[in-house]
Amino acid sequence: MIKNYLHLNQLVTLKSAHEKDGRFLVPSDLDIIEDGAIVFDEEKIIWVGKTSNLPSEYLAHMTYNLSGFVLTPEIVDSHTHLIFGGDRSQEYVDRLNGTPYEEIAKRGGGILFTMKETLSLSSEELFCLGVKRVERINSYGVGTIEVKSGYGLSYAKEKELTLIIDRLKKHFSPKIQISNTYLAAHDIPRSFSSPTAYMNEVVIPLLEELASLKIIDAVDIFHEKNYFTSENCIQLFSKAQDLGIPRKIHADELNDNSGAKLAADFGCLSADHLLKISDEGIKILSTSKTVATLLPGTAFFLGKPLAPARKMLDAGVKVALASDYNPGSCHCDNILLVASIAAAQLKLNQTELWCGITHNAAHSLGKLDQGVLLPGMKSRFSLFQTNSLSQITYNWGKNFSVNLP
Ligand code: NIG
Ligand code: FE
Repeated sequence: MIKNYLHLNQLVTLKSAHEKDGRFLVPSDLDIIEDGAIVFDEEKIIWVGKTSNLPSEYLAHMTYNLSGFVLTPEIVDSHTHLIFGGDRSQEYVDRLNGTPYEEIAKRGGGILFTMKETLSLSSEELFCLGVKRVERINSYGVGTIEVKSGYGLSYAKEKELTLIIDRLKKHFSPKIQISNTYLAAHDIPRSFSSPTAYMNEVVIPLLEELASLKIIDAVDIFHEKNYFTSENCIQLFSKAQDLGIPRKIHADELNDNSGAKLAADFGCLSADHLLKISDEGIKILSTSKTVATLLPGTAFFLGKPLAPARKMLDAGVKVALASDYNPGSCHCDNILLVASIAAAQLKLNQTELWCGITHNAAHSLGKLDQGVLLPGMKSRFSLFQTNSLSQITYNWGKNFSVNLP
């Protein structure tokens, strides 16, 4: 069915940002149309422009007067770990009281603690928690959500988590798009003698099984000291390439491990975190297609210095922002709130902020047909009840999102 939205106070198209591949963005690249109109069907955008220029033939279709509203390309949260049991509030308090994240992890806390809590929940319980969390994220205006496995850490439980994410995907489609990322290589259970043993016994064989079911959208790995090595990444990425599955990486977060280079070498969709990325890493990403996904909420929550965003943006790196919602390092599911606070801290202009949570975030999931309001692109938008884009992040933490009519 064709619909028209007319008289939008602002229609934020991001046309120029899209033409520049989401790099070297200036404020005017938002390409805002005042008193805008958009015509679309379930699949695609048909026409975009000023309401006064709308061809009259479209008026025969379902028409909505959206004066008092702002429409943007759909907000995407491109990095979440939302399938988990229990919480880690005790570790949070321990951190406040002086114990670092790495130290807590060494004691058997961290990801391995959540693994135990996740193991104690049934598939149905985890699915129901997932439904609630996805609905909550969607209530902020986020329509595409990446969800990682990674708190199962055994063949059976990681398989179960990937199947739960697939069930969530089917449950919410098409209103909410879920992207299913396989992160069995998130931590190494104590029962394995080395990361390599865990890779060989669990991560690689399960990837082969899941690939045959065609339910994984990408693989991911925690490349970090005391977690997975460069060799482990190469093994996973080579296998994923053979199977035709896109790649992502948790890179250069706590240490510079040349993760950015690995990401570019294997054509990863994104390299995420990058708190410690080197100048060399920035240079490599600036000439690659790999999106640098920054997760500023995690640095805030762990009290760590932020990623060198300005340096990356000025070098021409394609930057996205995501929440990293998880029970340990960032217990916040609101990417819009994170981006509102982060923009000033990372010194982003308004286009970099919005492109980072829409267009570039979509590209970091391989979704190249959304994130810009142009004819032929997917009909995926976020609608806000306010008269200007600036109000949305200026009022940080206030929710202006409304359902699309
Ligand atoms: O992206 N770095 C690894 N994974 C998560 C942390 C997960 C956890 O602490 O439970 C992250 O920050
Ligand atoms: Fe993460």
